[in-house]
Amino acid sequence: MTSLLHSAQRRRKRLRRRLTVGKAYDMALEVARVLPRNARVLDVGCGNGFIAHHLTAILGASVVGLDVAKNAEAPIEYLHYNGTQFPVPDNSFDAVLLCYVLHHAQDFRAVLNEVRRVLRDGGLVVVYEDIPRSWWDSFVCWTHDLRWRSRTGHCTFRHEPEWRSLFSAFGFEIITERPLSRWRNLAHPVCHWFYVLKSNGAAKFELMLSTA
Ligand SMILES: C[S@@+](CC[C@H](N)C(=O)[O-])C[C@H]1O[C@@H](n2cnc3c(N)ncnc32)[C@H](O)[C@@H]1O
Repeated sequence: MTSLLHSAQRRRKRLRRRLTVGKAYDMALEVARVLPRNARVLDVGCGNGFIAHHLTAILGASVVGLDVAKNAEAPIEYLHYNGTQFPVPDNSFDAVLLCYVLHHAQDFRAVLNEVRRVLRDGGLVVVYEDIPRSWWDSFVCWTHDLRWRSRTGHCTFRHEPEWRSLFSAFGFEIITERPLSRWRNLAHPVCHWFYVLKSNGAAKFELMLSTA
């Protein structure tokens, strides 16, 4: 009886792992379509690190993962940081990923400022966000917040117009954006949004700071 139970637990664990790794692979493929080969990429809020791991293989360049929590399971170059300053030099990356991270950031301004600092001029930012479009989406976001608030604090979900004006206020131009099916993740059936942003260069950002 005990061995049957252990075997069922092992199967469940293996299945969950396959789902996690498979989901990360699908996202890595989607991200790779908008990034140049050999791009140097920073995955902010990398979580288990599987997106960074797959992307390293697909792009043929090392993708660095960074997070406030030490959850990385995949064999990646992982950096821990305090939520304020990324431990990497200025202008050192061609692209930054923010996959379902901004709604978790307790100080998203600090995160976007750091993204600007580490990104070279004309560099790209790929953002995935959950959007509370309908009452159902708001409910799913609420359950997500319940699960995460004891780990990284309260989540802040925003609508698309709010994200648009925030990105532009931080000196990012939206190159492309599109909704993604809520059914891509059956365990989290909420409206998802995909953005590709381009850094507008330091000049515009300095202008923004001086008028803030
Ligand atoms: C929902 S998980 C997403 C993980 C991964 N990006 C993915 O798409 O599978 C959110 C991640 O953001 C991280 N996080 C929360 N606040 C952060 C911050 N200020 N800066 C960077 N990462 C943060 C959490 O530790 C967590 O790993």
